[in-house]
Amino acid sequence: MKAIVQDQYGSEDALRLREIERPTVGEGEVLVRVHAASIHVGDLLVMAGRPILMRMATGLRRPRQPILGTDVAGTVAAVGSGVTRFKVGDEVFGWTSGAFAEYSSTPEDHLATKPAHLTFEQAAAVGVSATAALQLLRDEGQVKPGQKVLVNGASGGVGTYAVQIAKAFGAEVTGVTSTRNADLVRSIGADHVIDYTRQDFTKGTERYDFILDNVANHSLGAMRRALTPTGVLLPNGGGHQGGGMGRLIRATIASMFIRGQGRPSVKFENAADLAVLAELAEAGRITPVIDRTYPLSDTAAALRHVGTGRARGTVVITVAAPAPGTASQAGAGGAVPALTAGGVA
Ligand SMILES: NC(=O)c1ccc[n+]([C@@H]2O[C@H](COP(=O)([O-])OP(=O)(O)OC[C@H]3O[C@@H](n4cnc5c(N)ncnc54)[C@H](OP(=O)(O)O)[C@@H]3O)[C@@H](O)[C@H]2O)c1
Repeated sequence: MKAIVQDQYGSEDALRLREIERPTVGEGEVLVRVHAASIHVGDLLVMAGRPILMRMATGLRRPRQPILGTDVAGTVAAVGSGVTRFKVGDEVFGWTSGAFAEYSSTPEDHLATKPAHLTFEQAAAVGVSATAALQLLRDEGQVKPGQKVLVNGASGGVGTYAVQIAKAFGAEVTGVTSTRNADLVRSIGADHVIDYTRQDFTKGTERYDFILDNVANHSLGAMRRALTPTGVLLPNGGGHQGGGMGRLIRATIASMFIRGQGRPSVKFENAADLAVLAELAEAGRITPVIDRTYPLSDTAAALRHVGTGRARGTVVITVAAPAPGTASQAGAGGAVPALTAGGVA
């Protein structure tokens, strides 16, 4: 099969399109014929092996898993012994290890049934970003109807889901974005848009019940000052180069002493939350925003684009079209309008 392989940590220049062995399917695992994968900032960090501490998990000298990519959508090609939830031919989405390849093997509880009306590209764009947004708003923020939620970095991979999920929870949502993305952020449901090139939300008079910060361009203290007395601030990451770890550690320590400081924590590989996201998508409450799609052979260019920090929504890799006649062939169904970074297509 074809796969994007990295033999060593480094930049996109270290990536190669290669013909390699198809993965086997172990007990409790599902082999997915990958139709689409998507990129999140974590892929850049794994590619670079940064922060260095992360290599304890990913391989000290070189990547233990030479194929990048976690967010995936495709068709079940084989199932291992003990698999009960899926059969060959089922359309699925979720997480794997090694998504930038024609086939990928993953435990069955890392997958959920793909909503029929989402294309494989849309379903592949859900994964990590939507899960992070869901858990941070629901579990950490405990966002309730009528609360005021501010999403800093509302046009990015996490932000576009956070705006939609906060709206689905009944919140009044303010999205912070630049002039060029203001219409996009309004189109996904934000009640108010703050253009950060003209206004600094930390210096305004408005107070928020929950602030989700995807950008890390303000101090934690400045953002906490924009909270209501019972409000919560959650910093989510903070840097495409792996430099945000110190900030997250500071936030975690501060959360033990400072009211309003939330402790960011996300549990991935969680099929229950994939099912929640599928339901939200089925109900039309969330629609993945796709910035651009790239063929598998251009994965390096796709990663470079995400690395600019200017992506709008999620960047998707198309791997292989589903076989003719399958339910979702190339996005058939089309009940959900394609939300692209330029607006509703
Ligand atoms: N907790 C978790 O498990 C988890 C999961 C996923 C991601 N993350 C972290 O979350 C952070 C955001 O990820 P992401 O995927 O959303 O990033 P992203 O998609 O790369 O974010 C890009 C977006 O950020 C916007 N942006 C840049 N500077 C901004 C500013 N000053 N104010 C407001 N918006 C700004 C850009 O819009 P303009 O071009 O208009 O500025 C662009 O649309 C990263 O640090 C990532 O590591 C954490």
